[in-house]
Amino acid sequence: MYDFSADMTDCAAAVETALGGRLSAARLSGPGPAPERLVAAMRHGSLEGGKRLRPLLVRQAAAIFNIPAASSLDAGLAVEMIHCYSLIHDDLPAMDNDDLRRGRPTVHRAYDDATAILAGDALLTHAFELLADPQCHPDAAVRIALVTELTRGAGGGGMVGGQMRDIEGEKGNLSAADIATMQAMKTGALIRASVRMGALLGGADARALSALTAYAEAAGRAFQLADDILDVTATAATLGKAAGKDAALGKQTLVATLGIEAARQHLADTVNTALSALRTFGPRADGLRATARYFASREH
Ligand code: IPE
Ligand code: IPE
Ligand code: MG
Ligand code: MG
Ligand code: MG
Repeated sequence: MYDFSADMTDCAAAVETALGGRLSAARLSGPGPAPERLVAAMRHGSLEGGKRLRPLLVRQAAAIFNIPAASSLDAGLAVEMIHCYSLIHDDLPAMDNDDLRRGRPTVHRAYDDATAILAGDALLTHAFELLADPQCHPDAAVRIALVTELTRGAGGGGMVGGQMRDIEGEKGNLSAADIATMQAMKTGALIRASVRMGALLGGADARALSALTAYAEAAGRAFQLADDILDVTATAATLGKAAGKDAALGKQTLVATLGIEAARQHLADTVNTALSALRTFGPRADGLRATARYFASREH
């Protein structure tokens, strides 16, 4: 029987240990040593407290193809480093201007804006170093496919583009379709990349990849919908980040457009869409099934 809670805990511990080991002045060195202040800010922004859902998705998608968890860890770490960088920059005064993240001061509050920008930049850069390393996967063609996948998820047509749309949306009214596009990019794109990277590690054929992509796109919508609902219904103490920020900043969300009850119903429907995309897979997809359900039931 698949045990979601054990899988999630085990994945989070593996990510924590591996990131903790990699983010040191010695390990990050290039032609010169990484400055201690930069390394400390990178550690602050990426260690302790994250749910590590994206590495979990990489691991669960790879598990469908019998890939052991240890063999998908580096790809998961790469996505998590991009995710942590996106949060560090998302919290900056020029963006959402938040003081609290994962129950602690945001990186720019604990250090300063310039250090937070640079810590994000370095996490972004080292994510791709991880994917380029043969330890990630012995086949260079697979490594290149992983790099391409993560680039598309993280770049201008993915997460970064979605963040641009989110900020532009503060100024005016977006249609429900515009909001959906923005959310599919700012949050959905990295979730989609995580699942597809797991599938690429597993050598998925075109049919399996397309079913898993449909799952990931629905799961991504569910994830951001839940985030927007929690922003209205939960407290900063449970969330570990400020609540009520979306309305305060004039963010365009489906909760603002539909109202909370309709948003909840839409969330349940979206999880069902994600689950039905997994129909062709047997019990090995139970991890992905449990994660989609968790996206709707999570409390932080
Ligand atoms: C929060 O992501 C930011 C969004 C993309 C909505 P998570 O809820 O996965 O944050 P952590 O990593 O667990 O802190
Ligand atoms: C963040 O969305 C998305 C990215 C960081 C790419 P939000 O701005 O809603 O995330 P929180 O609520 O600050 O975690
Ligand atoms: Mg934001
Ligand atoms: Mg934010
Ligand atoms: Mg939010």
